[in-house]
Amino acid sequence: MKFLLGILFTVVVVIIGIFVVVTSGVINVGADQAHNPLVYNFLETARTRSIAHASEDIVVPDLEQAEMISSGGADYKDMCAGCHLSPGVESTDMSEGLYPQPPNFTNAQVVERYKTAAGAQQSFWAIKHGIMASGMPAWGASHDDDRMWAMVAFIRSLPDLDENQYTMLTTRIDDDMLNMSMNSDMMDMFDEGSGMAH
Ligand code: HEC
Repeated sequence: MKFLLGILFTVVVVIIGIFVVVTSGVINVGADQAHNPLVYNFLETARTRSIAHASEDIVVPDLEQAEMISSGGADYKDMCAGCHLSPGVESTDMSEGLYPQPPNFTNAQVVERYKTAAGAQQSFWAIKHGIMASGMPAWGASHDDDRMWAMVAFIRSLPDLDENQYTMLTTRIDDDMLNMSMNSDMMDMFDEGSGMAH
């Protein structure tokens, strides 16, 4: 009985202790302050295990198709490169200021992991759901699965791209450009048409 009371007492003291520390405000939540290694490892393990567990039943499409790789490029440039970098850009204000630091997807060693089936599932899950309290947003709120798979496919080939290839693969053909080419195509049609009439 005394033993059980002892355990109960210890538990109550620990809970009160945690409560006092948390409410006193001494925990620093600044992003310019590193966690102590114990807390960092704890959070890292929780993140890795959580993503691996949650993503294990995701069905991976064929990520090798050229069309898939190229269609993810423009989205990557617009939405991800500011944090996850691009060829020739070694850091940005956001990549430097975030804690934990966003992984650099131009680094072949970082991306190697995504080339396995499990790695593809996990990166897709992280893109779709985001990672709580890290700065990594949940893109699934505003994008369908096909667009997010295209970004996974693009990231897997990003380390192989030089700056020019990156620019080519990430330039969005916007409405103005389409209109311009439509107009010149239509002019050609008119020219051909008038040629035939003569
Ligand atoms: C505002 C910065 C920011 C933006 C924008 C951002 N990310 Fe992230 N991302 C992060 C951070 C920070 C992490 C690391 C989180 C961690 O380690 O807990 C991360 C993690 C990831 C991971 C998981 C990495 C791993 O192996 O665990 C993937 C995949 C990813 N991001 C893809 C993307 C894609 C694709 C986009 C664009 C659609 C994007 N991110 C946009 C900050 C960002």
